[in-house]
Amino acid sequence: MHNNNRASIVHQIRYALGHPGRISPHLRRLTRNTWLRLRTRDHIGYYRAVMRSDTARGSESAVGSRSHERWLAMGRLQFDYLVRHGLRPDHRLLEIGCGNLRAGRLFIDYLDTGNYYGVDISPDILIAAQDTIVGHGLRDKLPHLMPVGDLRLAALPDRAFDVVHAHSVFSHSPRHVIEECFQHVGRIMKPAGWFDFTFDRTEGEEHQVLGEDFYYRTATLVALAGEHGLQATFMDDWEKLPSKQSKIRITLRPSGDG
Ligand SMILES: C[S@@+](CC[C@H](N)C(=O)[O-])C[C@H]1O[C@@H](n2cnc3c(N)ncnc32)[C@H](O)[C@@H]1O
Repeated sequence: MHNNNRASIVHQIRYALGHPGRISPHLRRLTRNTWLRLRTRDHIGYYRAVMRSDTARGSESAVGSRSHERWLAMGRLQFDYLVRHGLRPDHRLLEIGCGNLRAGRLFIDYLDTGNYYGVDISPDILIAAQDTIVGHGLRDKLPHLMPVGDLRLAALPDRAFDVVHAHSVFSHSPRHVIEECFQHVGRIMKPAGWFDFTFDRTEGEEHQVLGEDFYYRTATLVALAGEHGLQATFMDDWEKLPSKQSKIRITLRPSGDG
């Protein structure tokens, strides 16, 4: 959880004084992102361009892992959590923002053949995801990977998924992208299904940094889900795990509950 507004000048000066080695990479990122912003129409186009640039440097760092060991560990953390919470091989799982299958490779291996669906806005990371499928010998599990241009999930059928999972996706999403997901995700979930997503939590002022990292209050996301007829629960047990992000679980309100 972060209480500081990382976008504020005071925070940035304090941070720069404490971490002088990070000033020049930050300025390089700021310059690149400003350029990408000028060349793209909206957040999705912009973030897709960020992912293209990041993936060209390495797909594991592009999804946020500093080393291969961290990549393996962060995938394992996501997988173990869902299994502890009742994910079964016969479940059908949709992963939103699946990246290069950091956790997806474990889901694919565990689930029955054909039960894993991954969507992502970045064609570049989805190509890297195919390398993960080949490298981990997962071809025979027939995973489905789809590039998407938005989160309306329009190509997916009604009531198809037992579990929907999005790790470190809303931490890179402005409010309207999250809201679009909330508008549509209920349609593709089975009535008893659940949707877990992580987010960068602040108990201070909501803010964003470089158009890449977005910090929300729990109450904001819970209320937004409620506006779309979804029940949102803050997952306390996730807080004990080694992740900087927090997790919320979305379920469908029983019909007749408004
Ligand atoms: C930090 S990476 C995490 C990837 C994966 N969830 C994991 O834990 O390894 C974020 C991923 O979400 C994708 N992404 C960001 N915004 C998205 C959106 N609105 N819809 C679908 N994918 C999105 C990015 O392209 C990227 O692959």
